[in-house]
Amino acid sequence: MSRSSPLADRHILNGQRILITGASSGIGRATAFAVAGLGAVPLLVARRADELAQVRDQIVARGGEAHSYPCDLTDAESVDTLIKRVLAEQPVDMLVNNAGRSIRRSLYRSQDRHHDFERTMAINYFAPVRLILGLLPHFRANGGGHVVNISSMGVQTRTPRFAAYLASKAALDEFSQVAATETLRDRITFTTVHMPLVRTPMIGPTRIYDRMPAATPEQAARLVLRALIRRPKSVDRPFGLLAAAGYAVAPKLAERVLNIAYRTKSI
Ligand SMILES: NC(=O)c1ccc[n+]([C@@H]2O[C@H](COP(=O)([O-])OP(=O)(O)OC[C@H]3O[C@@H](n4cnc5c(N)ncnc54)[C@H](OP(=O)(O)O)[C@@H]3O)[C@@H](O)[C@H]2O)c1
Repeated sequence: MSRSSPLADRHILNGQRILITGASSGIGRATAFAVAGLGAVPLLVARRADELAQVRDQIVARGGEAHSYPCDLTDAESVDTLIKRVLAEQPVDMLVNNAGRSIRRSLYRSQDRHHDFERTMAINYFAPVRLILGLLPHFRANGGGHVVNISSMGVQTRTPRFAAYLASKAALDEFSQVAATETLRDRITFTTVHMPLVRTPMIGPTRIYDRMPAATPEQAARLVLRALIRRPKSVDRPFGLLAAAGYAVAPKLAERVLNIAYRTKSI
């Protein structure tokens, strides 16, 4: 990841219409404010209409433009309606697949919880895939588009107890890498953000994270800005890259280290 500020290219987002899912909270909300600050028009999507309206109103109060589209992204029909409604009102230049759900539970405690695997896939994989497929013809007709997926550094660190969550994130990472090979000539590009730990409502219930260093939503939003402005294949943190390299070189050693961390409940 380049270390220079993406804000040097801030003009790139001016006037861009960016559909941001999960914009009612945490990283998505901070991203909406960040892109609006650079002259983009965030199209805000999440289930909670009141929270979305608050984000929209704050952006408008600061002189920006934003639109709110409440939607349950796990409902296929609602997503199809959302796409039709948004496109009837304006073009979409970029999509940030940020809405998500995390589940931290060991496999031994997941024996009768197949729904954990289904609901992480529903919001973290199937919803973004439906949005991408729905917007693809529009992006193509529009001369291009950019998709940013908010994945997790955990895909690189292979953190124990997150099998359901990380598998759903990895599925979208892989989908996008293959999709990009098909859409290149249509100028439709994909960036995966391997997001580190961020202090948001999502990690609130996990006590172990209270004593771990975590980025602020605003710092996380800067990683998303980098993805939107520079369009790299991925945005990574050094620790994630190191963990991925370590696993590639010595997978059994990495597994042993992670197993110790799992048994001692240190991660
Ligand atoms: N926080 C971290 O440490 C961390 C680390 C790596 C990756 N991430 C990823 O970053 C993304 C944002 O997470 P966050 O930390 O900002 O969490 P958050 O504050 O809990 O926000 C999650 C967002 O997803 C939306 N959402 C959830 N289910 C939805 C549904 N069915 N339909 C529409 N919207 C839905 C929520 O809105 P409503 O409830 O209003 O629907 C909310 O806006 C997620 O994909 C997460 O996996 C987070």
